[in-house]
Order: sequence, then C-alpha cells, then structure tokens
Amino acid sequence: MDGKVRVAVIGAGQIAQAAHLPNFKAHSNAELVAICDIVKERAQRTAIAYGIEHVYDDYRELLKRDDIDAVCISLPTNLHAEVAIAALNSGKHVLCEKPPARNAKEAQRMAEASESNSRLLMYALQWRYRADSKLARKLVEDGELGEIYYGRTACLRRRGAPLGWFASKEAGGGALLDVGVHLIDLAWWLMGNPEPMSASGATYTKIALEDLRPGGWQPADVKEGIKLYGEFEVEELATGMIRFANGATLSFEIAWMLNIKGESTLSLDIYGTRAGMHLPPLELYRDIGGYAATETLGIDPGNPYKAEVEHFIECILEGKKPLTDAWQGVTVMRMLDAIYRSARDCREAKLSK
Ligand SMILES: NC(=O)c1ccc[n+]([C@@H]2O[C@H](COP(=O)([O-])OP(=O)(O)OC[C@H]3O[C@@H](n4cnc5c(N)ncnc54)[C@H](O)[C@@H]3O)[C@@H](O)[C@H]2O)c1
Repeated sequence: MDGKVRVAVIGAGQIAQAAHLPNFKAHSNAELVAICDIVKERAQRTAIAYGIEHVYDDYRELLKRDDIDAVCISLPTNLHAEVAIAALNSGKHVLCEKPPARNAKEAQRMAEASESNSRLLMYALQWRYRADSKLARKLVEDGELGEIYYGRTACLRRRGAPLGWFASKEAGGGALLDVGVHLIDLAWWLMGNPEPMSASGATYTKIALEDLRPGGWQPADVKEGIKLYGEFEVEELATGMIRFANGATLSFEIAWMLNIKGESTLSLDIYGTRAGMHLPPLELYRDIGGYAATETLGIDPGNPYKAEVEHFIECILEGKKPLTDAWQGVTVMRMLDAIYRSARDCREAKLSK
C-alpha cells in the first residue's frame, strides 16, 4: 500500500460532495483514484473537480480494479448491502454511509462479509467523531456520571424532509433511518453500549400528506431537477423508548416535520447517579460542594466528517478496529427494526437475535 490508501467513491451525490470527496482529497495518506455514479455526467463532473482519473457508471466494473484499497459508499440506503458486500468480496475496505442498511438482516450480511474477507467495514456515523462527543464518552468511561440509567434525545425540524429516494420505503427512507440512526447510535455509545432488549415506538406521517415542503437537505437528483418527487411513503416522526439489559432506558423523538416552536432543535441528555450530561454544547450537571452546578465544557466539535475519514485511513494503515464498526452497525439496526415493529404492532417489541 506504500503508506497511501487508494480510494474509490461510489455515489457522487450530496454527502459525497459535502463530506467525503474533500476530506479524502485533503488527506496526505489517501489518494482518490476512481469515482462511480449511475448519473455518469455527475461522476465526470466530480472527476474533473477532484482530479480523479477513472470514471464509472457501473460499480461492478469499478470493483474489478485491483489497484483500489478502499471504497466509500455514499449511495441510497437500499444499495448499501449489495455494494458493500460486493466491495468486501473483491478485497476492498469499506466506509459506508449511514444508516448501515435498510434492516438488521442486511447489516448482518455486511458484517459477515467484512469478517470472512478480513476487510474493514466502518459506518459513517460522524456524530461519534465530534471532539465534544469524544470528551463526553471519556467522562462516562472515567465514571464522572456514576451509573447511567436514562438517556433522552430529540432531533426535531419544523419543515425539513428530504424528498426523492429519502421519501421512498423501498429505498430505505424515513426520519428514523435518516436522522434517528445518528442520535440513537450516539446516545447508545455514550450510555456505554448496553445490550438493547426491546423497544416501544410510534411513527407518524401527517404533515407530509397535507403540506409537503422540501427542506434544505435534498438528494442530488431532486436538487438538479432530474427526478420529480415521488410518493411520500415513510414516517416523518418517530418517538418511543428503548430498554437495555442493565435496566437503563433511552427515549427518543425524531422528526423531519413537526409543528414545534422555531425551525429545529437537537439535544441529547444522559443521566447518571453522580451527574447529568447534555450535548450540544457539552454541559455537565452535578453537585459541587452542595451546589447544583452547571459546567459548560467549551470545546470545538471540529469537523466530524474529516475526523471520520482520518479514522478510516488510520484503521486501514494500522490494522485497527473502527469505532463505528460492522457489528455495532448490526446492533443499531436491530434497535431501529424493533422500533418499526413496535410501531406497526402497537406494542413493545423484543429485539431480534
Ligand atoms: N452522514 C450524513 O450526515 C449524511 C448526510 C446525508 C446523506 N447521508 C447518507 O448518504 C447516503 C447518500 O445520500 P445522499 O444524500 O448523498 O443521496 P444522493 O441521492 O444525493 O446521492 C446518491 C448518489 O448515488 C447515485 N446512485 C444511485 N444509484 C446508483 C448506482 N446503482 N450506482 C452508482 N451510483 C448510484 C445517485 O445518482 C446519487 O448521485 C445515504 O445513505 C444517506 O443516508 C449521510
């Protein structure tokens, strides 16, 4: 590998442009060698912008190259399993966008392919790569919070639904899969990765049926006017609770559209016997000398997309296990699956094995 990881990006849409391409390009130990998009003109434009030599519109052709060490998958969710497994089987390491897949079964097959081919599979759950999240996790590991028994997180937008494939059930859309995955993964990690047992959830599609206004974050086909909006088939709001084997619970509220005060809100709180913690910004709530103190830990979160790419390259070059690895992705998907099952059946759902 000569100390340099040769990288191909599959999917040249919004997240590839906003996060992966610039960060791989800027990394001194990475080289962007190939790009693929089914919209070939988009791939060609990207190749020119980033000085990428090889351009494809069929990922299978790209994977035949034996001079590629790693691929970054920034495709609609329904393609994650298919393309990641093909890439792992062709001997490439994989950085795959979130959510890991449409469901835990797909994520499990991806993890198995990673293991059987001895190739890394890392998920782009970039909230864990923020500096404030890392400090929060260190505080938890150092026992500053005591026993953690409750978490709650909310990520609510007044009107902020991505359309196009994000609104399609088959493609793996929905507010819980899109945004919920980040917050639930982060909260679970900050709670110390307790074993999830069951979930109780409810999902709603209400405003989308009457007042569908596109949010700022749209897939490339919608932005470029290539595809008209399809049917809105997924949930705009998911709420509920996850129970863990150690007795802890995590409650969540995730919405692309909800008639809240203001434009949007995002918060994550973790509660322990010795202190509580909030993100972002990172704050600690504990008693100091008999006073109920609030400590704001002023820390720059940094660029989590950059930190994520750096971690991926470091894991490949140094043979390390990624922080957001394949099997954690399976567990996260088991939680999301159980939430959807519970919402469908209107009762608490046990997690699948
Ligand atoms: N981590 C984050 O903050 C973040 C933000 C947005 C999106 N995402 C995730 O990134 C992934 C992509 O989302 P996006 O917003 O960039 O979507 P997008 O639609 O803008 O980009 C996807 C690209 O894949 C291309 N494509 C589709 N089918 C293909 C195929 N068979 N072969 C090759 N190319 C194909 C499309 O033409 C498009 O350019 C999704 O999993 C999404 O959840 C993550």
